[in-house]
Amino acid sequence: MMISITSGKGGVGKTSLAVNLALALSPEYKVLLVDADLGLANVDIMLSIAPKVTVKHVLLEGRSIREAVVEGGYGFHVLPAASGVVELVQPDSDMKGALELGLNELASSYDLLLFDTGAGISPAVLWFNCLAGYTIVVFTPEPTSITDAYALIKVLYRDYGQKNFLLVANQASQKEGEQYFLHLKKVIDSYLGANPIFLGAIPKDPALAQSIRSQKPLLAYHRETKAAKAILEIAEKIKSFIPVTRKNSLLSNS
Ligand SMILES: Nc1ncnc2c1ncn2[C@@H]1O[C@H](COP(=O)(O)OP(=O)(O)OP(=O)(O)O)[C@@H](O)[C@H]1O
Ligand SMILES: [Mg+2]
Repeated sequence: MMISITSGKGGVGKTSLAVNLALALSPEYKVLLVDADLGLANVDIMLSIAPKVTVKHVLLEGRSIREAVVEGGYGFHVLPAASGVVELVQPDSDMKGALELGLNELASSYDLLLFDTGAGISPAVLWFNCLAGYTIVVFTPEPTSITDAYALIKVLYRDYGQKNFLLVANQASQKEGEQYFLHLKKVIDSYLGANPIFLGAIPKDPALAQSIRSQKPLLAYHRETKAAKAILEIAEKIKSFIPVTRKNSLLSNS
């Protein structure tokens, strides 16, 4: 089971949602959080980990993908990417082939692979989104973010065959998020025929911004804030998309 977390516009909250969802789901599922922003990694920074082997060593130096997997520190594993490596921003077909093989091999050891992608419609972003069974599209209430979310969904649906879209409104109240979702859904339904599902809205919350500054996921220490509760509700909804065959956390195995 692979789920990507993506967006049309950058900086909308993908990585913060990805680390917190990995944490929220890991008591029940074996989760591998893949930093799919290959050349501009952020997951390691948000978790305050310093991996020695990353996807860079796997794709450019022939190390095995399992060597790169590390403990995230909160009950899930991480496949880290590299920071400032231009060759990885647009991986060539050999690299994509090797990565797909490696990810499929890793997938057999986990219930869920979560991809934290970069923003936009670059080939690498589209590629990760195609590999995933479901694509979570994060948007904020800004018109530019909504327009870019639609553009990304259009390209993925029409040209890359992704049909399963789950939408999250970030930095929005539930009411505001629903309104923007319904607006987006109307356009998506009438022009594309895709049937996106709304996972929920995450309010603007200084505690979330602070958690990023302190490099600890919000859910690790603050489950009572508005954003934390909203993310937990989104995680509950995501569970309904995960096959029930192997519910087995990393913690319960250790
Ligand atoms: N719900 C929220 N409340 C308050 N601040 C938020 C919220 N969500 C995101 N932010 C702020 O937005 C910033 C960007 O978040 P994040 O790095 O998760 O976005 P991103 O989509 O992964 O960015 P990129 O496109 O660069 O990968 C964070 O540093 C944080 O300060
Ligand atoms: Mg990010």
